Amino acid sequence: MGKIIAVANQKGGVGKTTTAVNLSAALAEAGKKVLAVDLDPQGNTTSGLGRTVNAHNSVYDALMGREKLSNCIQSTGTKKLKLIGSDIRLAGAEVELVSVENREYYLKNLISPLRADYDYIIVDCPPSLSLLTLNALAAADSVLIPIQCEYYALEGVTSLMNTVNRVKKTINPRLEIEGILLTMLDGRTNLGLQVVDQVKKHFRKEVFGTVIPRNVRLGEAPSHGEPISVYDPKSTGAVAYQALAKEVLKRNKGKK
Ligand SMILES: Nc1ncnc2c1ncn2[C@@H]1O[C@H](COP(=O)(O)OP(=O)(O)OP(=O)(O)O)[C@@H](O)[C@H]1O
Ligand SMILES: [Mg+2]
Repeated sequence: MGKIIAVANQKGGVGKTTTAVNLSAALAEAGKKVLAVDLDPQGNTTSGLGRTVNAHNSVYDALMGREKLSNCIQSTGTKKLKLIGSDIRLAGAEVELVSVENREYYLKNLISPLRADYDYIIVDCPPSLSLLTLNALAAADSVLIPIQCEYYALEGVTSLMNTVNRVKKTINPRLEIEGILLTMLDGRTNLGLQVVDQVKKHFRKEVFGTVIPRNVRLGEAPSHGEPISVYDPKSTGAVAYQALAKEVLKRNKGKK
């Protein structure tokens, strides 16, 4: 049974999508069967993997009950990595699901049958604690929280943790913290290193040993529609996401 990991932080631009895309690709390169699910109406995971959705095959069409979720699966340029994409229409789901009963469980119910076909299902969340994010947290076994190595790094993490705890008490008692991932570290500045220290002190074992450096190639790869493992496999960014994948595999060894 595949493990579902939601990549979430309501703060924008902290590296959620970069992590969803490149962790997914690195796990696939390591031989795992991976499904990346783009649950953000911005559709950045979709375009980052070089794909688009049509009027029938986005996660939105499945959430609206118009298409089977399994029919929304697309191949990507990485052999063992598949994608369920989204586009801006997904923003409508927030409104359209709001009055529906069990509205937090829509994704969970749709995605559960797909677990058997994958080792990992990675869900990229939008930068909000919206109904879409709640759907991801309800469906997930764990949540991976990227934090950008900058001055206000911890801003919002407390409210995210509160949400995670509330979700555990209500819609998903199984939800675990996969880990906190420090991203975009500029190793040349003291500030970056101070933030690493501060976050590690604050969250201890929950913090991944792997820290993602700021790397221009990671920023360029999405415009080529390629994960870093394809765009520049020798870059520091690629090596870092490879190390993260190893850490994730190690943390889950024996659990699955
Ligand atoms: N390690 C990195 N080095 C350099 N650039 C990065 C790195 N990680 C992310 N970026 C760039 O920073 C920007 C924000 O990253 P990303 O889109 O992954 O964040 P996000 O949390 O998904 O944003 P949003 O909240 O809007 O969904 C993007 O332009 C991305 O290419
Ligand atoms: Mg994003």
